[in-house]
Amino acid sequence: MDSNIVVPLAEGGTEPLRLLQRQHILSVEQFSPAQLQPLFAQAQAYAGMVAQGQRSTPLDGLVVANLFYEASTRTDLSFQAAVARLGGRIITTAGGVHYSSVTKGESLHDTVKTIACYADAIVLRHPVRGAAREAADAADAISQTTGRQVPIINAGDGIGEHPTQALLDLYTIKDRFGPRLEGLTLGFIGDLRNGRTVHSLIKLLAIDGDHVRLVCIAPETLAMPAEYLQFARSRGIAVEETEDLLAAVGGLDVLYVTRVQKERFVSQHLEDLAHRAFGGRYEHLDADTQAALRPVAEIHAARAYEKASANYVIDEMIMRLAKRDMILMHPLPRVSEIPADIDLDSRAYYFRQVQNGMYIRMALLAAVLGRLG
Ligand code: NCD
Repeated sequence: MDSNIVVPLAEGGTEPLRLLQRQHILSVEQFSPAQLQPLFAQAQAYAGMVAQGQRSTPLDGLVVANLFYEASTRTDLSFQAAVARLGGRIITTAGGVHYSSVTKGESLHDTVKTIACYADAIVLRHPVRGAAREAADAADAISQTTGRQVPIINAGDGIGEHPTQALLDLYTIKDRFGPRLEGLTLGFIGDLRNGRTVHSLIKLLAIDGDHVRLVCIAPETLAMPAEYLQFARSRGIAVEETEDLLAAVGGLDVLYVTRVQKERFVSQHLEDLAHRAFGGRYEHLDADTQAALRPVAEIHAARAYEKASANYVIDEMIMRLAKRDMILMHPLPRVSEIPADIDLDSRAYYFRQVQNGMYIRMALLAAVLGRLG
């Protein structure tokens, strides 16, 4: 096996990617179409390198920290694998944040400031929307002491965004359909209200600029929030909303399935109850009132979850109605929305997404850490 091969730079040069150097990656809104093309080309170059068993070590000497406050398999391990494959080192608290000083009540701000003293970049996953922004502020604050700018990479912030997932999703779609997506119809189905992957992907499709059509398939309670619909429509994407998968599926080129985000339901119902009963935010209520609302919210959440998750299952019948060249995507983990026997269908693309995730994260890390060559 060859070692330390310098991977050819993406065709057309990586110049636009230099703007990403030392930048926090918080939202897909930071990317321009001029950056997506070389980022994807670089990911493809890394895919070729891995397939051929070659090695490249542009991250030699650099340390990346994974800080995950929420469960993860793919995002956590693909970042770890990406760093390892580029010759860097990854650090993380043994056993996750549950064995860190977070359990002693340490704030996100202090935790990030601490890790920024050790690492060259921090990959953060957190249950609260906006946490990545807060972490970026903490990293900026400590940079005045350390003299080093440590970028935060948002690996999912609550129901907010998941920019690296959207990058790998768009890369996967282009890998299949080519660089121009004009004329394609994409369907998003499932929990579009709480699914951060589709929040980032709808925006990234709009930024990328192809005039695709989008069909959002969800019950009203799980509908895509208006802010994302507006973002897409204002950039020339035609968006339709429906609850009727059977009627929509035959017209789709891509069907992107999401899991019903059960873990978000209780907090969502707590907020709804606090708003309806007291006209304010749950966190502003006194402890006794909060405790009284919780069991009610749990019952409401369980009922809503049952209803939502039973609704859309992509089974063989649905696949028979779909185009022969449609692709079926899912960010994973799946629960019951795609039965395992569908994996054998050549249109099942979700494990390609898994594979592409590592290449995209390799390219992004090399760009953010200024090691593109
Ligand atoms: C998703 C996430 O964490 O937002 N998973 C992922 O990163 N691949 C989707 C989900 O949890 O349903």
